[in-house]
Order: sequence, then structure tokens, then C-alpha cells
Amino acid sequence: MKLRPGPTLAFAYVAYTTTSKLSPTIGSRGRKEDPLDCRARMAVKFDVKPGVADINDYEDAYVDCTVWLRRLVMSSSSSTSPPHINSTPSHETPRHPTLLLSQPHSLASQWSNLCPPAPVLTEKNLPDQSNKVFIVTGSSGGLGKELISILYERNAKVYVAARSETKAMAAIHEVERSLPGSTGQLLFLHLDLSDLSTIEKSAQTFLERESRLDVLWNNAGVMMPAQGSVTTQGYELQMGVNALGSFLFTKFLHPTLAATARTAPRNSVRVVWVSSSAAVMAPSPAIDFDNMDYKKDESALNKYMRSKAAVVVHSSEFARRTAGEGILSISLDPGSFMTDLQRTTPTAMKLLLRLISRPPKYGAYTQLFAGLSSEITEENNGGWVAPFGRLVEGRPDLQEESLGSKFWEWTEEQVRPFL
Ligand SMILES: NC(=O)c1ccc[n+]([C@@H]2O[C@H](COP(=O)([O-])OP(=O)(O)OC[C@H]3O[C@@H](n4cnc5c(N)ncnc54)[C@H](OP(=O)(O)O)[C@@H]3O)[C@@H](O)[C@H]2O)c1
Repeated sequence: MKLRPGPTLAFAYVAYTTTSKLSPTIGSRGRKEDPLDCRARMAVKFDVKPGVADINDYEDAYVDCTVWLRRLVMSSSSSTSPPHINSTPSHETPRHPTLLLSQPHSLASQWSNLCPPAPVLTEKNLPDQSNKVFIVTGSSGGLGKELISILYERNAKVYVAARSETKAMAAIHEVERSLPGSTGQLLFLHLDLSDLSTIEKSAQTFLERESRLDVLWNNAGVMMPAQGSVTTQGYELQMGVNALGSFLFTKFLHPTLAATARTAPRNSVRVVWVSSSAAVMAPSPAIDFDNMDYKKDESALNKYMRSKAAVVVHSSEFARRTAGEGILSISLDPGSFMTDLQRTTPTAMKLLLRLISRPPKYGAYTQLFAGLSSEITEENNGGWVAPFGRLVEGRPDLQEESLGSKFWEWTEEQVRPFL
């Protein structure tokens, strides 16, 4: 069969050349993946697969694609700058594709995440978690549900913090039924992050039952709800739930995390802040202090990106403010997955995501790494984890102390009436 070069093959070429030049994460730490092969597989999936009759054709197309990409790379190897394109690539005469790299770092970062290396920490090699107490917010579905399943399989006690008891109990029963051999526990904890006045009660309910908390995964989130959606207190819904609500919940649990860290094994007590690749793509500056109420309206996607950038800023600042207490603070991009998160996103975005998404369990692997990998130490406190569990450089401006301090103070002011 003939390989049909299309826009995604062009994309694959740019992805390969830029990620291999700009991103030190691909192929690092002795992983055996070949980024070029990986991009070729992607291109075959996007451009060729619709016309592929069977698996042999698929493999032929993949081999053709790899050869095509290698020729392209060789033909441009003298160029030190990222490729700018001016024509459609042809099968016979490789040329640069028609993309302009205006933000090479963020694009490179996105592309390296399209085809991440295999996860290193999974249910297969996770040690026993008996005697540990965890909270996973928003774990009634999606990535959170996959995460509680892995933790429960390893005998952990996990609080399923969610706003719908019916949905959470259905998830709990499903996981319990599928893992009858576990000696762990799954317990529902009511938590509605869209109403700051209810969060103290949720934290208190937990604290009345437990005297330790080993890892808090701030996983709950919303993406691109109807424009104009706000929290009970009138904050834009994404900033309110993803950033403000999670911040306040963490604040109430902080003393217990600190107390646990005094007796728990070093580096084991953590707060994991689930952000997104959207944080990397957020406008700059990511936090617009003059427009926190969106009096100047922005797109729902922009608002999502800003809220996820805010999560990273909180994570970095939490690390600075709790330094010496033995708690590690890590933010992450879990990867791309079809879940209920896209319930209100435009169809075009869903279709695009369908092409690149993996089973949601992979997002849980990224979270598992951030919360429990022994690879993460004090040195990585405040750091960033990429899919499906790799320590990489985060977006530098989100880690800046001046921004962290200012945004932390702003957030403190918003939650003060609810302390
Ligand atoms: N899926 C992806 O591709 C992707 C990519 C990057 C980052 N993420 C992040 O990963 C996290 C998990 O997302 P997901 O894909 O698993 O989505 P999901 O299936 O929609 O799960 C999100 C969870 O958050 C809960 N939640 C929403 N609003 C809440 C509120 N006000 N109070 C308490 N809980 C609330 C949801 O509860 P209900 O079911 O009751 O609404 C649900 O349990 C999110 O933070 C998301 O931004 C996901």
C-alpha cells in the first residue's frame, strides 16, 4: 500500500524534530522508546489508518512512514532552528510541513506528551499500601476512579471525596466487586468544591475519623462549562473549583499532613495537584490580577487554562511555605483522556481528543507516580510531573516566587471568610 502523506505526517515531522531538540524528556533516563518511531506510529494512526485494511498494511504504512520521517530529518539536519514550512510534504521529495512554531517550548511540551513513554509505576509494581490513609478528590469517575481502584487493590484506605454520593457509592461498589481480595477500604466523603462555605465541614468529617493523611490528591476539576458558570460565591466556576476550592480543602488538611509527616517515612507525605497541559498553554501572564472576576470576558478554554496554571502556582508556593515540614507538593499533567470532563466541550475538541487519548487508567498512573514514586524526593518539592509519570521541568513563570506569593495572598483573602 502507498503511504499518503497528510497534515498529520507533517505534524509528526515537526513534533519529532522539535521535541528531540527542545525536550530533554524524550528518551531520557534510559527509557527504550524511539521518538521517531513513536511519531511515525502517530502519523500512521492519523493519516493512514482510515485506509488501512488490515494489520499488515498498517505495519507496512508504519515502516514507510518511519523511512519518510528519517529522510526528512536527515534532509533538514543542517538547520538549527525549528522548521518553518512553506509547502505540503511529498512522499518522494521531503519538504518542511506548513506549520509555524510560534511557541516552541509549549508546543514541544505538548507534542512530547502526545506519545509519552510507558508508565513506570502501575498496579503491577506498586508496593502494599496497608495502614496508609489517602484522599482522592473527584474520584467518583474518570481518572480519580481509576486511581482509587489501584490504591484499593494494594490494600489502602481511601476517602472518595465527591459531590454526588450516589455516583461515588456506585464507583465504590464497582471497585469493591472487581477486587474481592483487597483488605483496603473505600469511604465516601462529601465534598463540593464549588461552595467554599461547605468545605470546612467536609474536612472536619474526615478529621473526626482519621488522625493521619499520607497523600491528598487534588484531582477534582471542571473544564469549559457553559460561559457564565459561577460558584456559589460568584467566582468563575473553573477558577473557583479547580483552584480556590482545592486550596481551601488543602488548607484545612495541612496540619494533619504535617503531623503525619513527623512519623511517616521520609518523602512519603504529599499533596498532588492535578493540573493539565492546559497550564503550559495558558496566556502569559497566566494570572491576570486585574481580571480575576472576568469583567473583561475571555473564552472558556482560556479560563480553564488559567485555572490549571493557578493550580501549579499554588503547588509551587505550598512547597515553599511548608518547606521543612516533610510534605512534598507536586503538580502534574496527567495526559489526555476521554472522560466526563469533556461533557460540555465543543464536538471538534472531543474528536481531536479521541485521536490522541489513552484509557483513563494511564492518567491514574501519572497521579500514582506523583503521589507514591520513591523517585520523588525533597529535591523535587514543588516540581512538575508529565505523562505517565516523569519528572520534567515545568513552565518556569508558574514557579516564580513573586507570582506564587502574590497569588497565595490573593487566595487567602478570598477564603478568609470561610476559615
Ligand atoms: N481527562 C483529561 O484529558 C484531562 C487532561 C488534563 C487534566 N485533567 C484533569 O484531571 C482531573 C480529573 O479529570 P477527569 O478527566 O477524570 O474528569 P471527570 O471524569 O469529569 O472527573 C472529575 C471529577 O471532579 C468532580 N467534580 C467536579 N466538580 C466538582 C465540585 N464542584 N466539587 C467536587 N468535585 C467535583 C467530578 O464530579 P461529578 O462527576 O459529580 O461532576 C468528577 O468526579 C481534573 O482536574 C482535570 O482537569 C484531565
